[in-house]
Amino acid sequence: MDVTIIGCGYVGLVTGVCLASLGHTVRGVEKDQRKLKTLQSGHCHIFEPGLQDLLNETLANGSISFTDNVKEAVKDAEVVFLCVGTPPKPDGTVDMSFLESAGKEVCDALSELKNDWLVTIIVKSTVPAGTNRKLYNFLKQQVPNAYYAVVSNPEFLKEGTAVQDCLNPDRIVVGGESPEAFRMMRRMYDPLVKREENFMTMNWESAELTKYAANSMLAARISFMNELTILCEYYGADIEDIRKGMGSDTRIGPAFLRAGCGYGGSCFPKDVAAMEHISKQAGYDNLFVRAIQTINENQKKRFAQKIADKLGRPIEGATIAVWGLAFKADTDDIRESASIDVIRMLVEKGAKVRAHDYKGAENMRAYLKDIADKIDWVADPVTAAAGADAIALCTDWPQYTTQPFRKIAATMNSPIIFDGRNCLHRDVMRENGFQYYPMGRPPVEKELRLKQRN
Ligand code: UDX
Repeated sequence: MDVTIIGCGYVGLVTGVCLASLGHTVRGVEKDQRKLKTLQSGHCHIFEPGLQDLLNETLANGSISFTDNVKEAVKDAEVVFLCVGTPPKPDGTVDMSFLESAGKEVCDALSELKNDWLVTIIVKSTVPAGTNRKLYNFLKQQVPNAYYAVVSNPEFLKEGTAVQDCLNPDRIVVGGESPEAFRMMRRMYDPLVKREENFMTMNWESAELTKYAANSMLAARISFMNELTILCEYYGADIEDIRKGMGSDTRIGPAFLRAGCGYGGSCFPKDVAAMEHISKQAGYDNLFVRAIQTINENQKKRFAQKIADKLGRPIEGATIAVWGLAFKADTDDIRESASIDVIRMLVEKGAKVRAHDYKGAENMRAYLKDIADKIDWVADPVTAAAGADAIALCTDWPQYTTQPFRKIAATMNSPIIFDGRNCLHRDVMRENGFQYYPMGRPPVEKELRLKQRN
């Protein structure tokens, strides 16, 4: 099929490249000239495992191309994805201006082209209930003679595994009112529909709410486990054993039950907050989603406070090596990363921070400009730890588990690790002479022999 993608940011590019790899003819529209040039010269402007290889392949066989010209891009299109930003406004509502202007540009082009087939306009962005209907009515009023339908098709891909997720979706949700558009969507996704019941059609509002509900439920599971770490630490239980014990109940399942120093990213914090907002608009106070957020904020505070409490010296003037800045492993994305709040709290308490990440350091450095003088940016975890009073691990990069811990312990001022992701092995920590504080798991504590400070 002929597919056009408006907006080659994260979701747009992954979707476009994956659809091209399935044999569709994809035209990507990108207005940012720097990004466009990068894509046209065959390079991804975002980091996502597997994406560059697939882009090389699809550019080479001509199934994908990039332009900044909407009219040219939609000339033969049967479906047009709108993958533009829908940022939250200060009052909590969603800024629809990018969606409206992209939709209008597409409809203007369609009305000039006067093609005799229905074009399905697909909204991928996560938007509050009612947005697709509003967009449809807005477009109908602005461009009454274009021949198109609007569907909501929420995206469930995760950063770091986006290509895999896109090519192996658990389900495909399509919301709208046009049976013809539903049929078109079914045809486009045919190679990905393994079982018919995994392709779901519903009305716009249900599709929109499905996305918010799914992300809120996943965030709720994490917050539930994070809250449980308080009980574990008080009673001497181990959250990892509880996770296994709970997760093996098939009604509960094992996913998204890993406790840590708080969830982050571009979706969970935004979508849970939006869920609270749309609940307010519906006239009630959604206590459940409020609790999810409060627990997440508290968890970050608890982590920073634990560092201050267990350091064995005043936090003021201490040096803390922060391992991990990205909001999770395998991405350079630092949006709403737990390490942002942890670093700010440590700095507020008077600590010096030595920060390391495998991909996210540059983004974090740009983001934390206001406290730049309190942070050293270090190229490897071993150097970050040398001379530090503790390590605070905030991102679950697998590389952190294979560090030369004995060597690291010998170079630290005091060998203490606060494991905010429960990804290190406590026996390894003990054997290598560390004092070790995970989240909701028994710590390794002993009398520390602090090195003499100069
Ligand atoms: C999420 C959703 O999973 C995806 O379906 C949606 O389309 C976008 O939002 P993403 O933000 O890429 O994806 O990352 P995800 O892997 O879900 O992790 C989000 C945050 O939760 C990370 O900070 C991660 O560290 C944290 N997390 C995840 C936990 O703390 N515990 C877990 O068990 C799982």
